[in-house]
Amino acid sequence: MRIILFSGKGGVGKTTISAATGYRLSQLGYRTIVVSLDPAHSLADAFDIPESERFSAKGLPIEINDKLSIQEIDIQEEIDRYWGDVYRFLELLFNTTGLDEVLAEELAILPGMEEVTSLLYVNKYYREKEYDVLILDLPPTGESLRFVSMPTVLKWYMKKIFKTERLVMKVARPVVSRLSDVPLPDESYFKALENFYEKLKGVDEILIDPDVTSVRLVANPEKMVLKESQRAFMYFNLFGVNVDGVIVNKVIPPDAGDCSYLRSWIEIQKRYLEEIEGFFSPVPVFRVPLLEEEVCGLERLEIMSDIIYRDRDPSEVFFREKPYEIVHEEGEYRIKLRAPFVKKENLSLLKGEDEIVVRVGNFKSHILLPRKLRDLEPVGAKVENGYIIVRLAQSPTP
Ligand SMILES: Nc1ncnc2c1ncn2[C@@H]1O[C@H](COP(=O)(O)OP(=O)(O)O)[C@@H](O)[C@H]1O
Ligand SMILES: [Mg+2]
Repeated sequence: MRIILFSGKGGVGKTTISAATGYRLSQLGYRTIVVSLDPAHSLADAFDIPESERFSAKGLPIEINDKLSIQEIDIQEEIDRYWGDVYRFLELLFNTTGLDEVLAEELAILPGMEEVTSLLYVNKYYREKEYDVLILDLPPTGESLRFVSMPTVLKWYMKKIFKTERLVMKVARPVVSRLSDVPLPDESYFKALENFYEKLKGVDEILIDPDVTSVRLVANPEKMVLKESQRAFMYFNLFGVNVDGVIVNKVIPPDAGDCSYLRSWIEIQKRYLEEIEGFFSPVPVFRVPLLEEEVCGLERLEIMSDIIYRDRDPSEVFFREKPYEIVHEEGEYRIKLRAPFVKKENLSLLKGEDEIVVRVGNFKSHILLPRKLRDLEPVGAKVENGYIIVRLAQSPTP
């Protein structure tokens, strides 16, 4: 099975592109389900499904054709259906635990019910093998990151806290509850959580298996959107989830018109389009023009999928290597950047506010730093076995 996640800022075109991709896959004969996790649901709109039908689906799959179904997860329904008793506990839990890793500071671990529910579905569909391809239309970027980090958070909790706490709870509940701000549920919660965790087993491996899961980042050629996409790119990378494509949507065609208004937008976009490859290299970038109308209904979804994929099969893995890694070795942080053809000559390093720019000849790569490493400076670089390795260190205080 293939799992393709679409992630990006609100309004960039995730839902539309998820729908177009799903439709194309169904036409190629793949049994496909497109699941939307975005609480601002518009997946059914993209397929022109009447409100009444969507309403009666109550968050369960709606059939579009014999190969394609869509599902807009309704979190309230999910909770009522399955998770009422666990919900309040999880809410407490995600508010009080943290992660002792580079990522921890970045992630506000809020109640993770949407993410956990979605992960349950990922695992369910993966195991049931009813579909060949699962497409996930993720909520806007921040929450997408929570989605991929959730298995780690849960694992951390189960390993580090769950066991001890459950034991301690039995003997010392009254004392602990006064000393610790970790929530103190009773035994039935533990049982429920354990069942829950059981159902999630293996989902983290699924997400980091590049043969199964791909993230495609959807962006527009605009400053704020690109910044957010770069950030997402970094985090998916750090989490080990394979990003196999970047789709730059709503590109105004250069011949769109001759009014000054449009010309100015075309100029602005051109600037960003030139830089985009450097932001995401070597991951392939797909450009999609701004169409004349909203993309709604099968006919337009088909046009859209032709533009994005041409004659390629969307279930292909378009790219499969880690573009870079941040590692902690010999007491320092290092960026390992894949660059098979690079020689050390002419290698230059530049430190921006929150990024390192590596430049070699025509090759230029922007690597955004996690917040914790943001103050480090590049202090040297070497080229080794097809990698550029950049060493980071605290800048010497004057
Ligand atoms: N390439 C495009 N050309 C014209 N309209 C588009 C294009 N891509 C998306 N849209 C429209 O933009 C709006 C937002 O798209 P949507 O897919 O809902 O974004 P997201 O899911 O990222 O919030 C929708 O009305 C959609 O029809
Ligand atoms: Mg959407």
